[in-house]
Amino acid sequence: MKGRCNLELAAKDRIIVALDVPTLREAHLLAEQLGGYVGAFKVGLELITSEGAPQVVKEMKRFGNVFFDGKFSDIPNTVGNASRAVAQMGVWMFDVHASSGLGSMQAAVQNRGNSLVFAVTVLTSIDMNECVSVFGGFPNTKVIQLAGSAYEAGCNGVICSPKEVGDISKSFNGLLTAVPGVRPRWAATNDQKRIMTPGDAIKAGADYLVIGRPITSPPSETGDSIRAAQLIAEEIDQALAESGR
Ligand code: C5P
Repeated sequence: MKGRCNLELAAKDRIIVALDVPTLREAHLLAEQLGGYVGAFKVGLELITSEGAPQVVKEMKRFGNVFFDGKFSDIPNTVGNASRAVAQMGVWMFDVHASSGLGSMQAAVQNRGNSLVFAVTVLTSIDMNECVSVFGGFPNTKVIQLAGSAYEAGCNGVICSPKEVGDISKSFNGLLTAVPGVRPRWAATNDQKRIMTPGDAIKAGADYLVIGRPITSPPSETGDSIRAAQLIAEEIDQALAESGR
């Protein structure tokens, strides 16, 4: 399936590295090494719960763009207020669960300030059967339905698996995509289920790739985190060239 990236970006700027570590000290060490090799740093529930959101954002902004992956899922009033708080911290991007409903996504959009709002569709750790039991349908239909609500709410983009990117870019013009569930051939799958290689995700049309463990703890035969990020950027570059971008 061939898709189309919405953004013209250098390969490294498409990499959002997930800093899934428990302490700011560890996040610092990774961000210091990776600053010149990736486009943004994603801070998620582990780090912000352990160290406190304002402190984490303040520190990580020193190293580059910050994606605040708080995955808000609540009633519109609460999501709106949380969105205002995080936008005021100066994050580049934050996210809200599309399954929290149109009103909650609209509240996030209204209060986004200068930040981008992305809607989480179906987590990439959820397989076909679990998607049916939780959402009542297969990922290919449920993700498109949730992306449609995100588009209607005015979100800048959605978070989905690389497998759904092609259909999303065909259906919703200009809606950006950020995809976790990205695994180079040399990396372990871990708990991710709906996965693709970085090259295939780009060929499918993904704008941003959210990548954690393959960069933060690469297999020893691959090398260190910088080497892992470089290999992924090379793979992205090649895929961009092969798809004529
Ligand atoms: O280590 P790995 O590459 O699997 O990390 C993926 C990151 O993307 C994690 O931080 C996870 O929280 C996040 N994520 C995800 N699936 C989604 C949304 C976010 O894996 N649908």
